[in-house]
Amino acid sequence: MTLARVVAMTGWLSLGLTGFALAAADPHSYARPEEAVVRHADLDLAVDFDRRLIVGTTTLRVERPVPSAPLILDTRGLAIRSVSASRDGKAFVPAPFELGPSDAILGSRLTIRPEPGAVLVRVAHASGPQATALQWLTPEQTAGGKFPFLLTQSQSIHARSWIPLQDSPGVRITFSARVAVPWPLGAVMSADGNLGRSIERPAGGAASPGRTRVFDFRLDKPIPPYLLALAVGDLSFRELGPRTGVYAEPAVVERAARELSDVEAFLAAAERLYGEYRWGRYDVLILPPSFGYGGMENPLLTFASPTILAGDKSLVGVLAHELAHSWSGNLVTNATARDFWLNEGFTTYVEGRLIEAVFGAERREMDEVLGRQEFDREAAELPEGDRVLHLELAGRHPDEAVTSVPYVKGALFLRHLEAAFGRERFDRFLRGYLDAHAFRSITTGDFRAYLERELLAQDPQAAKAVPVAEWLTAANIPDGAPVSAAAAFARVEGAVSAWLGAAGSDEELRAASRRWSYHERHHLLRSLPKDLSAERMARLDGVFAFTDSGNAELASEWLQLAVRCGYAPALPRVERFLTSVGREKLIKPIYKELARTPEGAARARAIFERSRPIYLSSVVASIEKVFGLAAQP
Ligand code: BES
Ligand code: ZN
Repeated sequence: MTLARVVAMTGWLSLGLTGFALAAADPHSYARPEEAVVRHADLDLAVDFDRRLIVGTTTLRVERPVPSAPLILDTRGLAIRSVSASRDGKAFVPAPFELGPSDAILGSRLTIRPEPGAVLVRVAHASGPQATALQWLTPEQTAGGKFPFLLTQSQSIHARSWIPLQDSPGVRITFSARVAVPWPLGAVMSADGNLGRSIERPAGGAASPGRTRVFDFRLDKPIPPYLLALAVGDLSFRELGPRTGVYAEPAVVERAARELSDVEAFLAAAERLYGEYRWGRYDVLILPPSFGYGGMENPLLTFASPTILAGDKSLVGVLAHELAHSWSGNLVTNATARDFWLNEGFTTYVEGRLIEAVFGAERREMDEVLGRQEFDREAAELPEGDRVLHLELAGRHPDEAVTSVPYVKGALFLRHLEAAFGRERFDRFLRGYLDAHAFRSITTGDFRAYLERELLAQDPQAAKAVPVAEWLTAANIPDGAPVSAAAAFARVEGAVSAWLGAAGSDEELRAASRRWSYHERHHLLRSLPKDLSAERMARLDGVFAFTDSGNAELASEWLQLAVRCGYAPALPRVERFLTSVGREKLIKPIYKELARTPEGAARARAIFERSRPIYLSSVVASIEKVFGLAAQP
């Protein structure tokens, strides 16, 4: 059988969808889905907090276009206890398997040779002590202080550290799961079933020495494996709207529900723009502060950091972003890590549209300016090759693709198209694009072919304004790209220079800033010179109380400045911040500032060593780079 025919049969990646050339294989997976491809995973898992293990069996339903070919799975640090296979789901017979050597980026290839005709493959497995997807938190690291907490973070290629599967975003699966957790904890997943009842099992027997609760989940829509997610802890729930709600620890859930009251409005706005929400419910899980991201778009259940709860709804844009992924990312998915900008650039664009619909255009503009500042700052330090949208990533970990380039530059590309073709035509195009590729994983080439056909060819005159190839493959931002500005920020800059001038006074600054929102305060911090005296810093602190700010974005920005300027009164907060917050975006820049001086670097290392156990593995790897430490295999 020819490869093309096999690909046509399995629908591997995206061939046949848009007529674009054969999609390249995913360099970050061992799998050979053109020979044997997983379609469904049935998980039977037990969460063991004492040994910090997830143990269980995963039964995979497999399609085998090449019946004699082995099934190849991805694993990382998984212990494989046994493998069996079945034709009918009744009789399982042992199947030969082989676990390959461990590669630092990819993990270990699991090669299974089921007899021809067997379509169900059952693997008994246990996660390793360093499972990169798992964060095991002690009771002290939670809000309630009484119960431990477990969360998973499968993106980018960490699903393989808790479940053996074909861990490529081009291989979509449905799943079902039964998860046993110690009583009285609750379990939630990126699936249907979160509001369902659990079955209680009394203590007894060697297998389950303690009392347990078993939860049932299923997801009938095919998703990329990086969206598999589980959290276990002392969770309660509050409704936000008819289709939306929030899970959090009891101590946090009321505050979370107040902060997130606009989620239902985001959902309505997204449906008006991009069509029906196809996943059923949309809930948010607020995690303990050591979670490594602001948000993670796990289907039906966004995982979010409590650092988005600022008290004034100023940081709920993160949820507009994660909700937007329900269309861009979860419905239409990047086929490989090279195409990551298809997820994040589109989502950042849609996030802006939702913010505009719910809070108005000015807030969207302020977000854009702040985003562009982050991009400019980061791009200045990135090698040219990392400033392109369609990235070269073979031989590197896909977590390295997580810079502001796919987000900010990707969204700017779409804004450029919007400007050239007009909002109405661009909206129609985008909606059509999302519909046409729903529940598919596609490459940048697929997008480009669709863009060419459905937008550029329709109006060659307008198309001339947008250098598509340059946007996708060049390091720079093309000439003619939209430039965002916010009138409110010009006023902030005016007030800052007045304050810095000879006649400037704190009273004037206080009066000018009385009605400033979070965004304006953030812009203020970005507008300050980086060599303020400690005396000036103290005066700012007098006006704005930044050292004690409950807004994590402002706190992070202020603490960076405080370290740079040697403002000692903020240093205890630096330490408290870095030892409790695990969100890379907020803590890494502070570590970088500390590492600029020898004394700072020593402090930073000491703080890092203490905090390492609470950080997500990918965050540890990223911060190790700040210190020039070799990543741990
Ligand atoms: N999917 C990402 C988070 C991610 C990307 C995790 C790659 C692991 C690998 C998520 O949607 C995201 O972008 N989160 C941002 C939100 C922000 C841009 C609004 C974050 O956590 O800061
Ligand atoms: Zn995102």
